[in-house]
Amino acid sequence: KPLAIVFDLDGVITDTAHLHFLAWRKVAGELGIVIDEVFNDSLKGISRGESLLRILRHGGKEGAFTRAEREQIAARKNALYVDSLRTLTPQAVLPGIRELLSALRSEQIKTGLASVSLNAPAILQALQLTPYFDFCADAARIQRSKPDPEIFLAACNGLHVSPQACIGIEDAQAGIDAINASGMRSVGIGSTLTGADLLLPTTEFLTWPRLSAFWQLDK
Ligand code: BG6
Ligand code: MG
Repeated sequence: KPLAIVFDLDGVITDTAHLHFLAWRKVAGELGIVIDEVFNDSLKGISRGESLLRILRHGGKEGAFTRAEREQIAARKNALYVDSLRTLTPQAVLPGIRELLSALRSEQIKTGLASVSLNAPAILQALQLTPYFDFCADAARIQRSKPDPEIFLAACNGLHVSPQACIGIEDAQAGIDAINASGMRSVGIGSTLTGADLLLPTTEFLTWPRLSAFWQLDK
């Protein structure tokens, strides 16, 4: 069996992508930029600063702000986002995830988190999932957003396992590309992803028997 399973957070453990979208839409709107859910998909797995750059580019305003101004805008978005996180309770854990995490505990398979969100520790707390994770990669120490494999490699490193012995789970294309580049085996959640070693429609399909069968099949 795999030595560890490394999870993305937004879209795999809980659906915070919509909350990110609402906060960005408000901030972008204040700058005269319109974004929709389709555009928001391209921000999944992308760091806060890089997301802002993409939004400004989308609105044709890339050069319009200084670095200090951009930091202020990003801080404003984060304040809105953090405020919306108050609505997050253990009920917001996506279907099947808590069961999978506890099955992995029984199987003595290590668990890691690879989220580029600086809010990830607070979100795990709000969901009451912190005790299920052996290691959470620190987003503040990551230089490059997904699709760079850096954060998945940091998670494997912290778990003291080689990427080749691990499965990574992601809902975003940038995340699948990051997992594949890391040498881990990739499991994608959703229908629009390409390149995942195993693709499942929703988190409900994410069970230990299914992951175990996938691991053995691929050997
Ligand atoms: C990722 C999200 O998990 O975290 C991105 O998919 C988000 O949309 C990124 O921009 C950074 O999050 P935060 O909470 O640090 O602004
Ligand atoms: Mg995600």
